Amino acid sequence: MPSYEEFIAEIKPIWETAWMTNMGEFHDRLKDQLKEYLKAENLLLFVNGHMALEMALQAMNLTGEVITTPFSFASTTHAIIRNNLTPVFCDIREDDYTIDADQIEALITDKTTAILPVHVYGNVCDVDKIESIAKKHNLKVIYDAAHAFGVEVNHRGIGTYGDASMFSFHATKVFNTIEGGAVTFKDPSLEILLNYLKNFGITGKESVEYIGGNAKMNEFQAAMGICNLRHVEENIERRLVSERYREHLQGVSGIRLNPIKQGISQNYAYFPVSFDGFWLTRNQVYDLLASHNIFARKYFYPLITDFECYRERFSDLELPCARRAADSVLTLPLYADLPLEDVDRICEIILSAAKKGKQSV
Ligand SMILES: Cc1ncc(COP(=O)(O)O)c(C=O)c1O
Repeated sequence: MPSYEEFIAEIKPIWETAWMTNMGEFHDRLKDQLKEYLKAENLLLFVNGHMALEMALQAMNLTGEVITTPFSFASTTHAIIRNNLTPVFCDIREDDYTIDADQIEALITDKTTAILPVHVYGNVCDVDKIESIAKKHNLKVIYDAAHAFGVEVNHRGIGTYGDASMFSFHATKVFNTIEGGAVTFKDPSLEILLNYLKNFGITGKESVEYIGGNAKMNEFQAAMGICNLRHVEENIERRLVSERYREHLQGVSGIRLNPIKQGISQNYAYFPVSFDGFWLTRNQVYDLLASHNIFARKYFYPLITDFECYRERFSDLELPCARRAADSVLTLPLYADLPLEDVDRICEIILSAAKKGKQSV
């Protein structure tokens, strides 16, 4: 959060205009600032990332099947289903948890209309391969970039890949507007339609041409975004405490860390660790940390295909890498104010328990 004083000073003018929502001055200012920050030609703001994704899919006018990943947050698949589309799940790559582009083509049928990959933990999907598959089969590509705020590939904004990308500005994200989100998109003509969709499909004083919803970002959210954007670079830099985790855990047998790839700027949003063949299972590490009041996350567990609402349809699918990731990954605590000593302590707890376990054999 910004300081209390900074936020209060920012929102003061709202009491003068009483303009609280419906694309006001703060909304428009944040939109312009984010376009520049994310290096995106076209960008629209939304009330949250999920609605942004739902409406990006709706705007593409898709039918039939959408190829996606099961290793994501509930939102990704829900957005497909809530658009009356059928998700087709593709397994992920073992090293960075993103969709395995080499397996996409085998899943394409005459009903496929789009691919919805996720830049999970800010790890960039195989964007070039996905683009060439999409071109060859005339498919749309909508990226779930909820985790990838500010990530760049050789100085190109991540939101410029594919037909559209969704960003989440939820309170837990690297950049937040309390709740909030954005869609960046390639075709500028989508702007008019997306603006209608997020405002009930209303197209004029007495006309409603689309079945839209209410997904407008309000002025207080936008003001929070304007404050937070002033400090985002500094906050991302402070997340470099995550490198301390790397120093402690790198090279430990049975522990696999997120890969760092050349040419890709990171936002240090998460520190996922795979405990696979480690002395303790992922769940044991989770419980051990919890017993010290340290709350890591099984992010993502369960796999989307195993959710109660989906398991009847999808839980028999063979998705070995995704399943293994769901069973082995723990994201360790990470935020800008996390003290280095806390990282040291967390690693000490994990490593000393493993050492003790080994000695007792
Ligand atoms: C991968 C992914 N997709 C979508 C979302 C949905 O974003 P929001 O919480 O802003 O609606 C999230 C959010 O937490 C997410 O992690």
